[in-house]
Amino acid sequence: MLNYHWLSVLSVIAVVPFGSLATPLAPRWDDMRVKHNWNTVPQNWECQGHPPDGTTLDLRIALKPHREDALIDALYEVSNPKHPSAYGAHLSKEQVAELVAPHPDSFALVNSWLEHHNQANALLGASYQLYRHSETNTTALRTLGYALPVSLHQHVQTVAPTTYFGSPNAQRQTSRVRLGAPTLPFGDHAFQAELAKAPTSGEAAKVPSSCASTITPSCLRALYNTSSYTPAAPAGTNLLGIAGYLEQYASQADLTTFLKKFRSDAARATFQVVQVNGGGNDQSNPGGEANLDIQFAEGISYPTPNIYYSTGGSPPYTPDVNTNSNTNEPYLDWLNFILNQTTIPQVISTSYGDDEQTVPRDYALSVCNLFAKLGARGVSLLFSSGDFGVGGGSCQTNDGTAKEQFLPTFPASCPWVTTVGGTTSVNPEVAASLSTGGFSNYFARPDYQDSTVSHYLSNLGSQYSGLYNASGRGFPDISAQAQNFQVIVGGSVQPTDGTSCSSPTAAAVISLLNDYLISHGKSPLGFLNPWLYSKGVAGLNDITSGSNPGCGTNGFSAVTGWDPVTGLGTPDFGKLQALV
Ligand SMILES: *[C@@H]1O[C@H](CO)[C@@H](O)[C@H](O)[C@H]1NC(C)=O
Ligand SMILES: *[C@@H]1O[C@H](CO)[C@@H](O)[C@H](O)[C@H]1NC(C)=O
Ligand SMILES: *[C@@H]1O[C@H](CO)[C@@H](O)[C@H](O)[C@H]1NC(C)=O
Ligand SMILES: *[C@@H]1O[C@H](CO)[C@@H](O)[C@H](O)[C@H]1NC(C)=O
Repeated sequence: MLNYHWLSVLSVIAVVPFGSLATPLAPRWDDMRVKHNWNTVPQNWECQGHPPDGTTLDLRIALKPHREDALIDALYEVSNPKHPSAYGAHLSKEQVAELVAPHPDSFALVNSWLEHHNQANALLGASYQLYRHSETNTTALRTLGYALPVSLHQHVQTVAPTTYFGSPNAQRQTSRVRLGAPTLPFGDHAFQAELAKAPTSGEAAKVPSSCASTITPSCLRALYNTSSYTPAAPAGTNLLGIAGYLEQYASQADLTTFLKKFRSDAARATFQVVQVNGGGNDQSNPGGEANLDIQFAEGISYPTPNIYYSTGGSPPYTPDVNTNSNTNEPYLDWLNFILNQTTIPQVISTSYGDDEQTVPRDYALSVCNLFAKLGARGVSLLFSSGDFGVGGGSCQTNDGTAKEQFLPTFPASCPWVTTVGGTTSVNPEVAASLSTGGFSNYFARPDYQDSTVSHYLSNLGSQYSGLYNASGRGFPDISAQAQNFQVIVGGSVQPTDGTSCSSPTAAAVISLLNDYLISHGKSPLGFLNPWLYSKGVAGLNDITSGSNPGCGTNGFSAVTGWDPVTGLGTPDFGKLQALV
């Protein structure tokens, strides 16, 4: 069952409701208050009129937890090294479910309300119609507004689908294929020869200069200092998960080709595919995103078992100027599945994201709280930050005012995940200009980053004031290489850019840290941020040059300490190992 307890209700849309009178003791179901409403039809959608009589709709109703702060309080206790007695004592599925249990009255009230109406439009004071997306031609059954009885607002978090415009076809991912980019003419052996010639001055990593233009697992293992670590956790006790969506399939044949070329000692590695909610696994149709994720995760974490989650379907979605086709991913279906498992990979990387403002606030809050549930269970969730600097497209709000602003991304903006920005080059490593970073408009700045983010903002002064939300959660948290990744797709090398490269890279390094902990009988790291912003920061390479231009500005600059381009910096496994 999902966070806040989701009730699934099948409701008929376009038939006349049968009359039924409220009993005198029942609450006033006709005293309705608006829950969410759009002023105009969201951009690129056009109304096609009423659906045929008898059309049905699968409604999901999320109930609020009775104890509002219980989940986040517990998450902090098990994730913050400042609570030595609880740190690492992650919770079970049952313990987490108890923390988010709704008020004892919620079920009865909601059921009574549902029995009073059997028709979605009457139930929600809504007008469901068919809407068509002008570019993708996908059709969605949605309403421009909906309301709930006043007495239910304190019990119901969100109802879906309602004002969220969604359709299942289009896709966007945070990796970009670089046309005409250099491809690596050599594999493992040539790397070793290059390595022998690489600079060794001072503390500088011994990384061949070829890594500035072509990134392979050997480059990342040298740069992030994992080369000399041999994983030791007993087989199957440490797992690394990759969440995949939008009909992206990871190819075993391409993985083998990749490893033979770039990491020959791992050439026999395989990965498990778990199909969720009708997600496919067409091995003849490999996806660039899926292959990137699995190849670099395996290439760094080998022999740690990797699991690829292929999730079908599509979640609620609202379009804006920048995201003009449906690119939201079905987080809820995947979360519903993964939270119902008793064993979950200790680290999961997701390389998908969207402009925060295209994700309805209620939906974003619900999904973010589901990530907190995973954190409380001991899972480190890594998300790519996005590929558009401080914002892509027209950089305007979609609330009807078209105000200029930077555009944060979601789930990167959720405070209960670890967001990974992008870097490039070596000796020194600098910020990648594509790296999205900034400040959420939905989520307030969490305690764990309060002092370092305040410090950054006070140095920034009035620059960009009004273009970003100074009280919002700042992201990314950390960063990793994001350009010139040598991905094998359909048998040949496809150089790829994007923070989609950064997330699986950082996830694989964190997975090796968990391997070290688990092989010493200790708890895995779980939700990383309270630890990263306190103890862990000493094990990161601070990135202090470069910026993330966008929205007609030069963007933010990477500086000493945290910045909204590269976060706290890139991982140094050897140093982190000494700190865990
Ligand atoms: C959760 O898993 C159990 C079996 O492990 C299954 O019976 C149940 O349907 C699952 N629930 C959901 C919501 O997926
Ligand atoms: C959408 O439909 C129109 C005609 O109705 C067609 O011209 C166009 O190619 C379609 N677009 C897509 C992406 O299928
Ligand atoms: C700024 O962020 C806070 C949450 O931190 C939010 O409550 C507020 O609505 C945001 N302001 C705007 C203009 O979005
Ligand atoms: C790599 O890790 C080792 C500890 O294993 C540490 O002594 C060394 O300084 C690290 N190398 C770099 C280049 O940071």
